[in-house]
Amino acid sequence: MRPDDIAFQGAAPLQSPPGQGVERGPNHTDMEKEALHLWFAYPNDVLADRTAHACELLLSEDERARWQAFKFDRLRREYLTTRALVRTALSHYHPIPPHAWRFTLNAYGKPATDPECGLRFNLSNSPGLVVCLIGQEGELGVDVEPRERVREIAEVAATAFSPLELAQLEALPSSEQLDRGLSLWTLKEAYIKARGMGLSLPLNKFYFLFGGAEGIRLELDPCLNDEPGRWRFCLLERAGHRVALMAESAADPELEMWEARPLLAAPTQLPTGGEEWFPHSQAVGFQGVSEHVLAGDKHPLRR
Ligand SMILES: CC(C)(COP(=O)(O)OP(=O)(O)OC[C@H]1O[C@@H](n2cnc3c(N)ncnc32)[C@H](O)[C@@H]1OP(=O)(O)O)[C@@H](O)C(=O)NCCC(=O)NCCS
Repeated sequence: MRPDDIAFQGAAPLQSPPGQGVERGPNHTDMEKEALHLWFAYPNDVLADRTAHACELLLSEDERARWQAFKFDRLRREYLTTRALVRTALSHYHPIPPHAWRFTLNAYGKPATDPECGLRFNLSNSPGLVVCLIGQEGELGVDVEPRERVREIAEVAATAFSPLELAQLEALPSSEQLDRGLSLWTLKEAYIKARGMGLSLPLNKFYFLFGGAEGIRLELDPCLNDEPGRWRFCLLERAGHRVALMAESAADPELEMWEARPLLAAPTQLPTGGEEWFPHSQAVGFQGVSEHVLAGDKHPLRR
C-alpha cells in the first residue's frame, strides 16, 4: 500500500461505507467562510493492525521518529490517531493528499499548515477521543477531557482557576461542582490554545463566569491585550468527554461535526443544531457590557 492509496478524497466525492448514511465527506466548497468543522476520531480504532499500518504510512519522518519514541502503546495510538485525523481531515478541504501535509509551529508549539493554505485548525487528544477543529477565518482553540478526569481537575482547581471562578464553583451544590470544574478547565484550555501562547498566559488573568443573560461570559485582565468580544465559545459532550470550542468570530459559527470511524474510512456527518454558543449574542448586542457590571457587582479588575 502506498500513501497515495490511503483515504485521499480531497475535494472529490467520498464513497460511504455501507450503512453509514453519508454519500461523501465535506470538501472546500461545502465550507462557508464562517463555518467550523469539528472532527472526531478514536484511538482504539488503530488497534487494528491494518489501520495502524495505513496511518503509519501517512507520517512525516519527524512524526515517525516521535511516534516510535513513545514507550506506551496507549500514547502511540493517541499520537498516530491525531496525525492521521489532522492529515485526512485537512485533505477534505484542500487538494493535498494526507501524507503530503507539512506543518510549522509557532514559538509556543501551536501548529499551522506550511505553507499557509487558508485553513486554520487546532487539535486536542486524549486516550479515548481525538478532536480536530477546522475553520477558515480567525483563531481557533479546542480542548477535550474525559469525564473521568473530574476528580483530578478538582484537586488542582485552586491553582488552575481564578478567585471569581472558584467562588462561583464553591457556591454550587456539591453535586454540580465536579462538572463545573470540567467545563472551566476545558474552556480555559481552549482559550489558551486559541491564543496560541501556551501557559505563558496566566490562568488567573482570564475567567469564565457562569450565569446572567450571556449564559457564560469571558472576562479578561487588560494585561492579556485581548477583547472578550472577539470570541465565541461552546461546550459539547462526546463519547464520555467534554469538548470546549473557542473561535475568533463576530457571530455564532455554523458548526458541522464529522466522525472519522473507522479512522481512514469515509467520515460520517453527525447531527448538529443543539449547540449553545456563548456569550448569548442577544445579551452582548443589547447591553454591550457584562450584566454584573451594570448591576454594580464587585469585580477584581474594576475595583
Ligand atoms: C500544550 C498545551 C497547548 C495543551 O496541552 P494539553 O492539554 O496537554 O494537550 P491537548 O491534547 O489539549 O492539545 C495538544 C495539541 O495542541 C496543539 N498545541 C500545542 N501547543 C499549542 C499551543 N501553544 N497553542 C495551541 N495549540 C497547541 C498541538 O497540536 C498538540 O498536539 P500534538 O502535539 O499531538 O500536535 C497547553 O495548553 C498546556 O500545556 N496545558 C497544560 C494543562 C493546563 O495546565 N491547563 C490549565 C487549564 S485551567
